[in-house]
This record gives sequence, structure tokens and C-alpha cells, in this order.
Amino acid sequence: MGELKTLGQIIDYLIDVSGASSSAVSPSMPASAKPSASRDTIEQTMMQVVSELTGYPVDMLEPHMDIEADLGIDSIKRVEILSAFEEKMPGMPQIPNEIMGELKTLGQIVSYLTDLSNLPDTEDATELSSTEQESLDVSYTYPLEAAKVQEEIIEEVERRIITVVEKPLKTSNPVTLPEDRIVYILDDRTGLGKEISRVLESRKIRTSMISGNLFADRDNLPKALMNAGGLVLIPDVDLLTDRFNKKTIWNEKDEQFLKNSFLAANISAKSLMESALEKGSLFATITRMDGQFGFSGQGVLHPLQGGLAGLAKTAAIEWENVCCHAIDISPDWKDIQAAALSVCDEILHKGPVEIGLAETGRYILELTSSPSPEGKILLDEKDVVIVTGGARGVTAACTYALAKHAKPTIILMGRSPLPSPEPAWMESLSDESAIKTAILRNEFSGIKATPVQVDKVFKKYMAGREIMKNLSRLKSTGATVEYLSVDVRDIGAVSSILSDVRSNYGRISAIIHGAGVLEDRFIKDKTLDQFNRVFDTKAKGLNVLLEATAKDKLKYIVFFSSVAARMGNKGQVDYAMANEVLNKIAQQEAVSRKNCRVVSINWGPWDGGMVSPSLKKEFSRMNISLIPVKAGALGMLYEMMGDTTHPVEVVIGAVIADENPKTETANPVPRPQKTGKALSKRNGSPVHPFEQSVNIDTYPILAAHVLNGKPVVPFAIMTEWFGHAAMRQNPGFSFCGIDDMRLLSGIKIQNSEKQTIQLIPGETRQEGHYLTIGFELVHHLEDGKKTIHSKAKAILSDTVTLPPSYTKPVKIGESRYGKSIDECYETILFHGSPLKGIQEIVGCSQQGMIALLSTAPPPEKWIKDPYRPKWISDPLVLDAAYQMAILWCHETTGLVSLPSYTAGYRQYREEFPPDGVTAILEVKELTDHKMKGDFAFLDANDHVIAAIKGYEAVLDASLLKAFQKQ
Ligand SMILES: NC(=O)c1ccc[n+]([C@@H]2O[C@H](COP(=O)([O-])OP(=O)(O)OC[C@H]3O[C@@H](n4cnc5c(N)ncnc54)[C@H](OP(=O)(O)O)[C@@H]3O)[C@@H](O)[C@H]2O)c1
Repeated sequence: MGELKTLGQIIDYLIDVSGASSSAVSPSMPASAKPSASRDTIEQTMMQVVSELTGYPVDMLEPHMDIEADLGIDSIKRVEILSAFEEKMPGMPQIPNEIMGELKTLGQIVSYLTDLSNLPDTEDATELSSTEQESLDVSYTYPLEAAKVQEEIIEEVERRIITVVEKPLKTSNPVTLPEDRIVYILDDRTGLGKEISRVLESRKIRTSMISGNLFADRDNLPKALMNAGGLVLIPDVDLLTDRFNKKTIWNEKDEQFLKNSFLAANISAKSLMESALEKGSLFATITRMDGQFGFSGQGVLHPLQGGLAGLAKTAAIEWENVCCHAIDISPDWKDIQAAALSVCDEILHKGPVEIGLAETGRYILELTSSPSPEGKILLDEKDVVIVTGGARGVTAACTYALAKHAKPTIILMGRSPLPSPEPAWMESLSDESAIKTAILRNEFSGIKATPVQVDKVFKKYMAGREIMKNLSRLKSTGATVEYLSVDVRDIGAVSSILSDVRSNYGRISAIIHGAGVLEDRFIKDKTLDQFNRVFDTKAKGLNVLLEATAKDKLKYIVFFSSVAARMGNKGQVDYAMANEVLNKIAQQEAVSRKNCRVVSINWGPWDGGMVSPSLKKEFSRMNISLIPVKAGALGMLYEMMGDTTHPVEVVIGAVIADENPKTETANPVPRPQKTGKALSKRNGSPVHPFEQSVNIDTYPILAAHVLNGKPVVPFAIMTEWFGHAAMRQNPGFSFCGIDDMRLLSGIKIQNSEKQTIQLIPGETRQEGHYLTIGFELVHHLEDGKKTIHSKAKAILSDTVTLPPSYTKPVKIGESRYGKSIDECYETILFHGSPLKGIQEIVGCSQQGMIALLSTAPPPEKWIKDPYRPKWISDPLVLDAAYQMAILWCHETTGLVSLPSYTAGYRQYREEFPPDGVTAILEVKELTDHKMKGDFAFLDANDHVIAAIKGYEAVLDASLLKAFQKQ
């Protein structure tokens, strides 16, 4: 999608793959399910969706428009447009992101589609889908609507600090390079680069030293870095004179080095990725801050160079299979030969990205949960607080919380001019489309305007509106507030404004640096101009601020950094590097300013600010929770309550993934390692589907699950199968959950015949740490046809997913349930003894039910030859939860229900506790034939073990008969 430049190209693609004008078929798109759409319908629908989601009137849109340059639509918006389009035209094919990234021209798209039509899966897919239509079982029929976007239960933020842990290198995952590839090493003045080259050469790896002067002739760079199999970037440090020299906080040489490093990465990206595909490749940055990335608390030499770790961490995510490292060597380690040897051992082995090296040992960084500081914020109306970016976005929300709490004098800075009152024609408008239409009419009368021009004016008005609203909110707290329009990168303007501030309001006591912009692009695609805009706003802006307040006795320095700096982030190399600069400058400032609380908050994504509605949808799709604005604002206050003993770099987010895996494994985190595409492309070995022969002999548990006189495979057992099939195919990943699991046709066992079911893997996608593998659970019929019983997407992960916090709904627990458990199993439920998983019903109301459930015995008690020794989820807990839904439906409507769909199941532990769980069903919707709800499964301490979002069950009078015991 990223490379389809015009609306016309998107429409052509959709027409082609949907068969409107070509026979090409998408592998993820069963041919028989394709709508027969005409070009006109597709084009009109696309224009309508783009208009709705961008606010441009339809008659302004033309198919030839470049969606980025002409319409200003970014990659996230494109995803939103396509998904909205898919909702409007269900059954239309999805455009896989990874394919779009490769298609540069219309010709390439056409070639791709031609190739696609020859894919072997196509026939299968056609057949599957026609069978699908026929095999819908009445008692298991559901509306085939799209899965609803899941919402996390999280209400509070989570705080982590970074701890330094000594760990020896594991040498189990060596990296080897293709013989003809070259490792380029930047020559530094300590001789470290040369020594690294010598060690690598002694290990039969070709190296070439490059000089920093190379960057003066940028046109020559691609030639100079030709055929790269490795790149090692080492900035200059003078170990004798630079030590803790205040001037080294910011020097232009370091700044230039960071930008040159980005350029070198940008130019060699393609070659490094190719080399990784051939055999292997490496990328490393080497700093000499303190040997622990600033976490020693002893001060940071050249903190600006700390930005390099943001480059390595982002490259590790963007460049599949390139072994990336950010190495920080202690400046005290003077033995260059020994240090070079350690560096070479590191860069030639996969493992965590950030490695600290010192004579005394090897260190990695880990995130640990830590409570927020407690204390007082020592500010009042006599203290002036400077807040960059504070008139808008999340910084405005934090500033409001501070104003309410301490009422200091607040000076806000932003580039936008102080807004003048809105023109009368704007005042009553709030809808984006209406405003843009009005702008077109009132501001461009008679002149033909492009959507980008209109958007610019629109954004100006919206910024003005936001600033006015925030100013009046801030003033309502009683604090003195002034907004000053200034570009934080402009040292002259900022210094002069601040001297006026001092004469008007008095001493400056705190700075909060929240100004920031984004321009997401992959390292390989980003231009230096884009890099500079993002980097300079954050990092240079910070330096300007620090210089302009150098003589002020600051009590607080607060930086708005990002989790992108801690972990790296796709498309955000500039942002990750700039925020790492903030983090390391904070470390150094904390050492040099003894009485100032310095904190650099690595925020996770917020539910506001630069997280636009489209980005929000994307985070939701990826199951990433957002920081609620109020909770985040309080988070900043708590950090300010800390004193100089509290950690300088903290990570605050709704859900924070571990940066390093618990053990050092083959997968350096957070680099993607496995995708279905990559596997099938590279080793060419077919993935054999997971197969099971199912009858009462092989699955004795089915005798306890009989409906209408026939044993039926429980939905909960299918969950196990999906999880097992996915894990079997992706060793090293752990089970995280199941999305979009729909029962299409129950597996009913006829007589004693064995039914062979297969789990056929479909599309595999990787998003950060998470793998999503689509499956169809099919049964092959004698006439060669197949029945699809169920579909689901298994979610695996190479990291620990932390459970959300959860508040038990009090009302449900307060209302008693009238029947005994024996009565339930006797008169309502059809389940036999082994499946009698409900121990006690604690409460039942209109809102839902709370019950205590047993966990399942080992698999060998239920299956003759279990395919694994332990359950992946817990089929008794899940089945008993569905039984709760039956009881709730019966209590409320007199009807009983059967599961039909779950939008998302998430599991936060490998095993359920043997002594049982508390299950809470919260009913969200009830219609004549459907109930929808969520489940949470808690341990004895009320910690979430697992959760189901978007459970759906079908209610029908016919089920009462089916439930009767035979
Ligand atoms: N929102 C999140 O999810 C999130 C997550 C992690 C970190 N953060 C960090 O939190 C901070 C605020 O983010 P946000 O989401 O609130 O962003 P936002 O809504 O885009 O606001 C950014 C602010 O920065 C100001 N700004 C940008 N360039 C400037 C410059 N050169 N000089 C002066 N002011 C400038 C903008 O004002 P003008 O346009 O008027 O200049 C605006 O007030 C950023 O530093 C961001 O990196 C945010």
C-alpha cells in the first residue's frame, strides 16, 4: 500500500485482484467470494471513503492524485482508508503491506498480479470458499460480520525503570557473512576501529576502513559503501581530554556524526538486508558514554552520541535478519585491543541490541516495574515554568495538571502564531469535511486549490482552536499563563524571549520540553531533510533550551521522550535517535545539576496528541493500548514529585513490552525473525498442516460433550488446536492468544468413524514482537470437497505481554444466583462429568456472572495420544466460561446458547493455576438470537491470567432440545 501512489493505482489494483478486469486472484482472497464489482463502483466507493476519512469533498478528488504529495495522506491513513473500503465492499482483497512496499511502479504491480495468478494456493482457496458457503450448520450459523476492534481493559499507566544487569555473552547464535561482502568500519581517533578491523580480518572477514571525510562528498557515498555486509560506526572521542568536559554535552561534531550515521545507514540498508538474506550481515554503533548507556549514574561522556543507540535499535526492527548492536564501552577501558576483541565477539553473535562493555564485565539493560515517586512538587506562583509544545497535544494536558496542582507561572512555546478570533464562517463548524468545504469557499474563492493547500489552512485553524481552548482551560486554574510563538530551534529568538520572561515574571525554575514532530519513513526511504526536521525539533530544540537557561537555577527539567527511544520503532529512526539524545543529556544534566530533579519520560503512545484517530486505530489493531490522557498527565506530576535520587530515564505506558527477552535467545529483540513469507521463500520447505484423527476413542472427552445425541468437538479444544498448530510451525515463540475465531460448522462425530481434521495455515504477519498466523480448520470429505469448521488467527510472541489491570464489576458480585451447581448441570447444561468445570457461581445480574472454575487435568486424561504434554490454554476453563454464558442466557431469556465467535483471546501466562480461577462474564449486548460479552480470568490475587474480548454466542429455542441428555 505504501507504494501505490495515486488513488487511481489503488483502484486499478483492487479491480485487478477482484477480477473486475483481470483473472488475477489474491492468495488471501477466495475467488468465489469475490464481489463482481465494476470499476465505477470501486472508484466511487474509494472516493467516498477517502472523502469521509480526509474531509476533502468528493468533487475535489481525482484518481491521478498522488495520495502522499497531493492529498497529504500518510501510511497510517492509507491503512485506515483501505480497511474502511473493505468494510464498505466486504470480500474485497486486502493489499498486504509487505507487497506494497516492494511495488514501485504500476508495471511492477501488474507483474506482481500476473505472478499471483499462478500461485498454487489459488485453486484450493476457490474450493474452500465454495464449500464454506455450503457447510454452514444452522445451529452454528452466525452473521459473518467483520471482527470488531478490540478495546483494552487498561485504565492506568504502568511505570518501568531501566536496570543494568551483568550477563556473559552466549555464543550459541553466531553470525556469518557472505565471503565477498565487506564490513565497513569508521576510523576513529582512538584506534578502536582499526583494531576491530584487524580482529575481523583474522576471522576471515573482509573489512574496509572509511574516513569521516567521506561524508563531505555525499554523491560518492553509495560507491564508497558498495557491497556492504557490515557497517560499524564509531564516533570520535578523546578519552583523555573529553572526560566530563561540559562542552561535550553538545558539539557540532557529534551532531554531524549522528546525521552522517543516519546517512550511512540509509545508503547501506539495501546492501545489508541483501547480505542478511544471502547468509548474514551486521550493523553496530559504538559509543563510549559510561559503558552502561548512562545508567551508571557517573555522568555521560558525549551524551549526544547516545542517539546512535536509537539508530541501532530501529535498524534492528526494520532490517530483517541484520544482526544489529548498540555497544557502549566504558571510557575507563583503555586496553583497546581487549575492547576490540569483546566488540567483535558481540557483533558476530545475535543477542540483545544494547550491550555495555567494561573491563569488569558485560551488561545488558532490562525493564523493571517500579512504583511512581511520592513527594511534593516544589513550585508555586513565583516560579516560572517554560513548556515547549505546551499549548497543544499531550504536553498541554500535562501542563494543565501541573497548573491545577501547583499554580506556577506558565510560559508556553509553539511555532503557531497566537490565534486571532476565528472568522464568523468557521465559528459554528466542527466537522472536518464541512470546515474544508468552507475553507475552499472562503479562502480560495476563484482560485483552484489542491487538497494539500486546503489541508494546510485547515490545520492552521485547528491548531489555533486547540491553543485557544487550552489557554482558557489553563487560565481557569488561576495560574498566570502566557503563550509565546517561537521556534524552539532558534537560539536567538528563544534567548531573547526568555530574558523578557525573566524581567516580566521572575526566575525560571523549570523547563518541560514537549515540542516534537513526526515524519515516519523507513531508514532506507527517509531523506536527510525529513530526518533533520524531526531530529532538530527534539534534540536541537533541547540544546537551545538548555543554553538559554544555563544560568537559571532550575528545580525541574522534564523531557518528553518516547518508548521509541528505548525500543526503537519502525519508521521513526530520527525520532528514536533524538529521544535517545534527550535521555542521555538528561543523565548528564542529572549528574551536573545537583539540586534539580531531571527526568526524561519515555512515553508509550497516548490516547491523544500526535496519535491521530487513524494511528489510534492502527495501535488498536496491533493490540497496543494507549495512555489515557488524565492518567498520563498525573504520571508526569508523580515524576516531578521525585527527587534527585529517583531514576532519570523512566518508561511510562499503558502496556510496556520487555526490551530484552528473559533469556538471550536466537532472536535479538526486537528484530523480527520469522514470517510465513520469509520461511516459505527462504527454505522452500512446505509447512505440513497439523492433523488429528478425532472420534470417541482418540478423544474420550467428547463423550462428555454430546449435543443432539452426537459428540461435538468443544470450541475450547479448537482453541488448543489453533495454538498448537501455530507454535509447532514457529518454534521459539510463545502462545499469546487467538483472534477472530469463528465457528463455521461444528465437528460432529458420526458413529465411531474417525474424522481427520487439518489445520491449514494461511497468511502469517509480523508486527513487532507479535506473529499472527491465520488458520482454517478443515475436514476432507470423501468426494474430494472440504468442510471448513472454523477459522482463526493464532497470535504468538517472542516477548512477555504484561496483563492489563482489571477492576471487578461490583454489581455482578452483589446479586446472588438462585440455582445450585448440581441443578445447573442436571437441568440446563448438557456437559458430562469431566466438563463440569463450574465450581460455584458467586454472582449473577443483568450485567453478567462471576464464577469459580476448575482448571483442566493433564491432556492425557482427555486425549488418547496427546500432541503435547501440557495444555496451551486451559480447555476446561474456557469451556466452563462458555457454560457460564449458557447459564446467564438461560437465566435472562429462558434460552440457551452456544459459542459462535471470539474477537480476541489473550493469555498472559504459560499455565493456569492448578487450584482454579475466577471467571467474570460482562455482558455487552443481548438480542433475540445473540449475546455478546467479555470474559476475564483472574488468579487468587485478582491478577488477570487471560481475557476474552468480543465473545459471541447464538441463542435459539432449538438448542433447548439439542441440550437434552440422551
Ligand atoms: N502523543 C504520544 O503518543 C507521544 C508518545 C511518546 C512521546 N510523545 C512526546 O510528547 C510530546 C508531545 O507530543 P504530542 O502528541 O502532544 O504532539 P503534538 O500534539 O503534535 O504537539 C507537539 C507540540 O510541539 C510543538 N512544536 C513542534 N515543533 C516545534 C518547534 N520547532 N518549536 C516549538 N514548538 C514546536 C507544536 O506546536 P506548533 O505546531 O504550534 O509548533 C505542538 O504544540 C512530543 O515531544 C512527543 O515526542 C508523545
